[in-house]
Amino acid sequence: MDIQSYRNDTPGCLDHIHFNNAGASLPPQVVIETVKEYLDIEARIGGYEAMVMFQKKTQKVYHSLARMIHAKASEMAILQSATQAWYNAFYSMPIRAGQTVLCSEAEYGSNYMGLLRRKKEVDFNIKVIPSDNQGQIDLEILEKMISADIALIAITHIPTNSGLVNPAEEVGRIAQKNGIPYLLDACQSVGQLPLDISKLGCDFLAATGRKYLRAPRGTGFLYCREEMLSRTDPLQPDNWGGQWTSLQEYTLQAGAIRFENFEKSYALTLGLGAAAEYHLETDEEERYRYIRELADYARKNIPESGSFEIMDIGKEKCGIVTFRSTNGGAKAIQQHLSDHGIASSLTFPAGALIDSQKRGLNDLNRVSFHYYNTKKEIDQFLEVLKNWKY
Ligand SMILES: Cc1ncc(COP(=O)(O)O)c(C=O)c1O
Repeated sequence: MDIQSYRNDTPGCLDHIHFNNAGASLPPQVVIETVKEYLDIEARIGGYEAMVMFQKKTQKVYHSLARMIHAKASEMAILQSATQAWYNAFYSMPIRAGQTVLCSEAEYGSNYMGLLRRKKEVDFNIKVIPSDNQGQIDLEILEKMISADIALIAITHIPTNSGLVNPAEEVGRIAQKNGIPYLLDACQSVGQLPLDISKLGCDFLAATGRKYLRAPRGTGFLYCREEMLSRTDPLQPDNWGGQWTSLQEYTLQAGAIRFENFEKSYALTLGLGAAAEYHLETDEEERYRYIRELADYARKNIPESGSFEIMDIGKEKCGIVTFRSTNGGAKAIQQHLSDHGIASSLTFPAGALIDSQKRGLNDLNRVSFHYYNTKKEIDQFLEVLKNWKY
């Protein structure tokens, strides 16, 4: 991979070390220009007029997103966040009282809150699929948990608080074999791992733009499998995703656009498309291999920089590295890094409460690497970490 050329395309690389890619990564120049260009035109000719003028380009965004995960453009909905995508999918599927939704120990906070929210309306069961001794979903136990009353399997691919990669494809095979709808939170995997819908076997995939995809904040998307579309009944239909046809009825668009609403930022939508196009120019296997190489290097060396402990679990570990100091002070460590021009982040127990409670975790430090990062930057980070004083 020509890392230097990616760095040259990324103005944010110039003045700091960005290891908060699982928070929000740095956009390439083309994304920044795309958004600015649209906003300029929108300001000059008006919002509706600009929308018409850019109609073809906006249509192309669905195709770019679809190509990234080997899906069809008609299976893609452009939304504002992964949470919005997840909720849209979840609330569009029927769940009856007494049925069960299976989720992962790594489940993200807002997803689980969505389960709890709906449980106020429908008395269904939430069951957590236990993880194996390496920390990933235990597939043997999952097989045993399958029964006729499972309404949905909803799992998190890569959690907020660890480098873990859950076996999403294997879960997909179990879901498909048993005819159970499957919703995958791919918020932290899109743009990082090669993702192929036909291998994942999921019916829904929820993702954000701002993380590994390098799109602007305020963007996300939902994939919904074509065969599943007619079974969905989106929670918030409007005259964009559907049509009000009589005092008793409305119709829905045939494609995943039924999950969208009329009002959206076209500037950000086009920025998302530019990020997807840029992304499609990188080799997905190479990209992931390099990101993992950086993360493995950090995992190996962080403990030697002082009294730090790596907290990542799972058989396959990705570009996200979590650690803690045996002396505490996660926030102060983040500040120390920031004072030296290194952006990192923290993870909080509430982000993944099931796993955090199981492992007795408090706040953790998190560094997450992208393909525009380098080993040299990690060496600088390790040096700064070494100088950390309590
Ligand atoms: C695993 C996971 N799922 C979902 C989300 C929510 O994403 P968004 O903020 O785009 O709604 C996050 C955000 O950090 C996440 O880490």
